[in-house]
Amino acid sequence: MDKFHRSVLLKEALGCLKVKKGKRYIDATLGGGGYSLEILKRGGEVLGIDADQDAIDYVREKLKSQASSLKLRIVKENFKNLGKIAKEAGFEKVDGAVFDLGVSSYQIDTAQRGFSFLKDGPLDMRMDRREGVNAEYLINVLGKENLYELFKKFGEENNPGRIVRAIVQRRKMKAIKTTNELVSVIAGAVGIRGIISDFQKNRIAQKIFQALRIAVNNELENLALALPQAVGLLNSNGVLAVVSFHSLEDTIVKTSFKNFEKSGLGEIITQKPISPTAKEISLNLRAKSAKLRIFKKK
Ligand SMILES: C[S@@+](CC[C@H](N)C(=O)[O-])C[C@H]1O[C@@H](n2cnc3c(N)ncnc32)[C@H](O)[C@@H]1O
Repeated sequence: MDKFHRSVLLKEALGCLKVKKGKRYIDATLGGGGYSLEILKRGGEVLGIDADQDAIDYVREKLKSQASSLKLRIVKENFKNLGKIAKEAGFEKVDGAVFDLGVSSYQIDTAQRGFSFLKDGPLDMRMDRREGVNAEYLINVLGKENLYELFKKFGEENNPGRIVRAIVQRRKMKAIKTTNELVSVIAGAVGIRGIISDFQKNRIAQKIFQALRIAVNNELENLALALPQAVGLLNSNGVLAVVSFHSLEDTIVKTSFKNFEKSGLGEIITQKPISPTAKEISLNLRAKSAKLRIFKKK
């Protein structure tokens, strides 16, 4: 198993891509290089993109002694600029593109990145640490209404009022700077109305962290911008494969694919998304919510 990230739905996604020797593919979310490596093994050429310098460094180091790496072009960028990136890298036309969304195990497991409510670290959550505002900024600067909207919309938390009030009260006294500080404010707020299990507290903290991560990285907007660019780069019969991990992402994928089909660009191959097998979930709990959708260009 790769220590950086265990790929999810790899066999299924690769099965749909039907990689052919000498053909070109885009891996828009390089991560630990799991998908890219499989495409390379099958003789494909790959443009691998990631916004996170750590992922880029890891894959460069991992593949440096492998001959197949000559067929891998790596670019550190945000996939929202996919069309431009592909053009500059000479990948204007490809036979497949894959997005394996969200964060890698490395990002979640590295406390310093601030993605996990279970590990103490700075409230960062940026995939690209050179750009944009971090989660600490949003937690300490956003107004009450904005925080409420954020937690409701991106965290799908029905009742964020008490959490917002607790955050605002706490930050008046002292800025909230770490993941542990935020988790304890959330736990205090949701525990106010009686006893609540650790499981429930964790579930709520998870939703709040999801909301912040989506906002910090502009995840939904970037995805909606990238998918039409990906379809535009596909050759006839080229395949777009997207693995998503929560319903907000999946809705964007589903709606985008429907729009592509309506516009006559091709057909949706997966009327229902492909889910991981029970065996994959038992080996990797992070696979649990994964959904794979496939679109094929006309
Ligand atoms: C789930 S991991 C991909 C794992 C990879 N498929 C593998 O098998 O090793 C997702 C990766 O996508 C990157 N990522 C997420 N959003 C991105 C974006 N908008 N632009 C570029 N990279 C992004 C993250 O930094 C992370 O490394």
